[in-house]
Amino acid sequence: MRLVLLGAPGSGKGTQATRLREHLQVPHISTGELLRAAVAAGSALGLQAKAVMEAGNLVSDDIVLGMLEERLLKPDTGNGFILDGYPRNLAQARALDALLDRIGQPADVAVQLDVATELLVDRLSGRAKLEGRADDSPDAVRKRLAVYSEQTAPVVDFYRNQGKLACVHGEGGMDEVFVRILEAINPTSDVG
Ligand code: AP5
Repeated sequence: MRLVLLGAPGSGKGTQATRLREHLQVPHISTGELLRAAVAAGSALGLQAKAVMEAGNLVSDDIVLGMLEERLLKPDTGNGFILDGYPRNLAQARALDALLDRIGQPADVAVQLDVATELLVDRLSGRAKLEGRADDSPDAVRKRLAVYSEQTAPVVDFYRNQGKLACVHGEGGMDEVFVRILEAINPTSDVG
């Protein structure tokens, strides 16, 4: 299955992608993780991305698309993948469609995790205390949420218009949300 996970910062994309990876046996590809790895490695790309990410802004489309293409072309994506954090604007959504068409792997479904803003802020401030992620500071979270509603929210309609959108209520326990996702992507699946 080729699945795109959409949702605001803190909506649970990474948390659910980990569960989906195990269930579907396909790789989880997170552009945020790829970028954080580049920052940690101190590569030229990481150096370029670091300040942009810490401020809560989007890294340039060219950089992220190049990185994503390299990852998607690895052989482990043959049976599908879970994309987390991409696309984040309409240009990325169109570029992704073109790339996936080119490699003969069009997306099957886009799952949108829907969570109220106050809960997103609570989750991210909780994580800031536990993990100290640089972009979980109050200012960066505000910026990330604004960037999401201005640039990423329109991507939801992009997939709705293609008939590929599944909206899932993302509040409640992590396992509860996981079951909802499985039901949304395959209404007949046995989630056991
Ligand atoms: P990215 O890493 O993609 O961050 P994000 O979208 O802001 O997402 P988060 O990781 O904060 O949240 P999530 O939805 O994955 O939730 P999670 O499961 O972690 O991107 C980071 C940055 O990289 C961007 O700001 C940008 O600069 C750059 N970037 C990345 N992709 C890019 C792109 N395509 N183009 C340009 N720039 C890009 O959960 C959050 C917290 O909530 C955790 O503590 C978790 O334990 C908790 N939680 C989750 N689910 C539940 C639940 N059901 N109940 C209680 N707690 C829960």
